Amino acid sequence: MDLSHGDSSPLKRFVVAKKKISEVFDQLLVYVKEGSVFVEETCQNEALENIASLEQQVQIQAYANKLQTIKDVLARRHMKVAFFGRTSNGKSTVVNAMLRDRVLPSGMGHTTNCFLSVEGTDTDHAYLKTEGSEEEKSIKTVNQLGHALHMDQSLDAGCLVRVFWPKTKCALLRDDLVLVDSPGTDVTTQLDSWIDKFCLDADVFVLVANSESTLMNTEKHFFHKVNEKLSKPNIFILNNRWDASANEPEYMKDVRKQHTDRCVKFLVEELKVVGREQAPNRIFFVSAKEVLNSRMQRAQGMPESGGALAEGFQERLKEFQNFERTFEECISQSAVKTKFEQHTISAKQITEKVRNIMDAINIEAAEKRAASLADRDNQIDRLDFVRNQLNLLIEDIKKKIKAVTAEVESKVSIAMGEEICRLNVLVQEFHSDFHPSPHVLKLYKSELLSHIEEGMGKNLAFRCSNAINASVQFSQKDMIESLQPLLPPAIQNQIQMLVPSRKFDLSYDLNCATLCSDFQENIEFQFSLGWTALVNRFLGPTNAKRALMLVDKNFPVMQVTRSLSTTPSSGPSSLAVAPPQEAAVTHEERMMFMVNNLASLTSRTSMSAVIVGGVVWRTVGWRLIALSVSMYGLLYLWEKLTWTTKAKERALKRQFVDYATEKLQLIVSFTSANCSHQVQQEMATTFARLCQQVDLTQRELEGEISRLTAKTHTLEIVQSHSKTLRHKATDLEKQLQVFTDQYLNPHH
Ligand code: GTP
Ligand code: MG
Repeated sequence: MDLSHGDSSPLKRFVVAKKKISEVFDQLLVYVKEGSVFVEETCQNEALENIASLEQQVQIQAYANKLQTIKDVLARRHMKVAFFGRTSNGKSTVVNAMLRDRVLPSGMGHTTNCFLSVEGTDTDHAYLKTEGSEEEKSIKTVNQLGHALHMDQSLDAGCLVRVFWPKTKCALLRDDLVLVDSPGTDVTTQLDSWIDKFCLDADVFVLVANSESTLMNTEKHFFHKVNEKLSKPNIFILNNRWDASANEPEYMKDVRKQHTDRCVKFLVEELKVVGREQAPNRIFFVSAKEVLNSRMQRAQGMPESGGALAEGFQERLKEFQNFERTFEECISQSAVKTKFEQHTISAKQITEKVRNIMDAINIEAAEKRAASLADRDNQIDRLDFVRNQLNLLIEDIKKKIKAVTAEVESKVSIAMGEEICRLNVLVQEFHSDFHPSPHVLKLYKSELLSHIEEGMGKNLAFRCSNAINASVQFSQKDMIESLQPLLPPAIQNQIQMLVPSRKFDLSYDLNCATLCSDFQENIEFQFSLGWTALVNRFLGPTNAKRALMLVDKNFPVMQVTRSLSTTPSSGPSSLAVAPPQEAAVTHEERMMFMVNNLASLTSRTSMSAVIVGGVVWRTVGWRLIALSVSMYGLLYLWEKLTWTTKAKERALKRQFVDYATEKLQLIVSFTSANCSHQVQQEMATTFARLCQQVDLTQRELEGEISRLTAKTHTLEIVQSHSKTLRHKATDLEKQLQVFTDQYLNPHH
């Protein structure tokens, strides 16, 4: 059984290696593309501040492209064997024998007129492609191929025709082997261009020699040239047509030795491509024609020895098979190395470079992450500090505001008290046209009121404003200074702008016009010893009015004698200030009080004159009475005469001072509270503005913290991703090393 092309074929080694390295390259390409996307994303993320550089991005992209190119090249990689030898030595026949089919035309004379490569195709029919054309010319039989080749005048010896032969028909082709047949080496002198064109990527060269003659110089010359261009090419020498030796068996041994010696000498001494002990393994004595015939017959189900077989056929067949196996081992070994080694090295370099990039990104990300974590901690501390400090300060400032407002309140209150005492002076300072006529009087009073309002306001401002302003400003400054450290540096410098540049101006707003709106002067002439005046003197103007009314009604029944010891005068204001309810409650009591007063009055003055008149009359006599009456009259006359406009004005002013004093005293606490409220408002506004800034600071800090948190997170992802990618690189490097050990340096 012929097993040389079963699964155990050494060619499989190349096939498997190619599959493996392609798989590694597939993974590598996916990996580098993934890495490229990762680097690009990292590079474009501005928040990450150039963890990956543009240079790295460009580099890794270039690696991806290079890998893609190599991968495509790898996919096209195959083992290539090229056959050379003089015309009619049987090159085409050897190719056919190896393919086990009459694929290439052969025959006597010059048959092959150009280079012919035979490779496998997955289609079920054979076709050929001529150089410079993508056209697939279908071929049915070998004669048709020969005919096609000879018809095409454009083909010369330097041309290549690619023959595609169904893989299903030939195991060798399934294993990625390409066989190249050549025109006879004696045909042309364009050896250099041949070698450049067809031989540089050949893994094995087979010299098909004719065992019926010796090695020709033309043949040797060609291999010398090949040897110059390639380092240690793998060369096999087939001494073909060995079946002819069967005709002269007596010389066979000598002839074989002679050929062998010459071939060994050629390979070892001339070409120096192989060691002396290895050389015999490269030299075979075969008959391609016999092998082809027997194989074809067998394929058709006929006995191998269909025809009359020449003597020694079995040995020659064995030797051919032996050649095939040795050749296969050699070509796969060599091809794996030459076709994959360089790419494996490139792959290793690329993987290492990508791994370095991932390392660099990883380190950079780790550093940046640590920095941003530290930064974040700082900001959190700062936020904490600002929050706590603000809480403390708010309490403190509230207290201070309270203190300042209390101070203002007392200051204003004291100042106003003093000013009320000096009201008299202020009123005296007022000068305006005065006339008792109601019209002029009204104007006079309103001017007086605004004079008081203005004067008092001025005086209060003079007394308080500077001190209060200073105090307010000091407090504001104090507030700013205590809050300043909580603000970001940028705002700290502009903080003075937060304070209102206008000077705080306290408004005292006494509103005298309304306050004193119901002031009613009494500038009617009143005799100081007259009834009304006397009542007034004792009861005050308001009570007197009532009392007089009462007297008018009730006098006749007021003959009651009572103890008159009750104190006649209460404060002039007490009744006026008393709220109406109080007035209602104490009405009865007050009546009694007034009656008592009246009783006392009558007993002392006019009434006494009537009651005790008689007694007096008797005691002092009429002269004295007359004198008294005239004195009284004179006094009346004098008073009536001096009751001038000036006096009236004086009286009004005096009455106004009394009235206003009473009214103003009522609003002392209100006004001082109002002032302190203004101060409080002013300071609270400033404080609120400052707090707003601190708030802004806090929000900025919070924003910064969450930005840093997000950044840290992204960096963590980048870090772990780069780590994963780094591990993948290491894994791929391992795979490449395994491939190297297994296929490229199998001896180590
Ligand atoms: P060119 O293509 O012209 O360079 O020749 P070639 O080297 O391809 O030789 P080809 O295979 O065409 O064979 C030439 C002739 O030699 C054919 O008639 C073959 O049948 C014959 N021939 C090839 N091999 C053997 C062999 O081993 N023994 C014998 N007796 N004849 C052979
Ligand atoms: Mg030929």
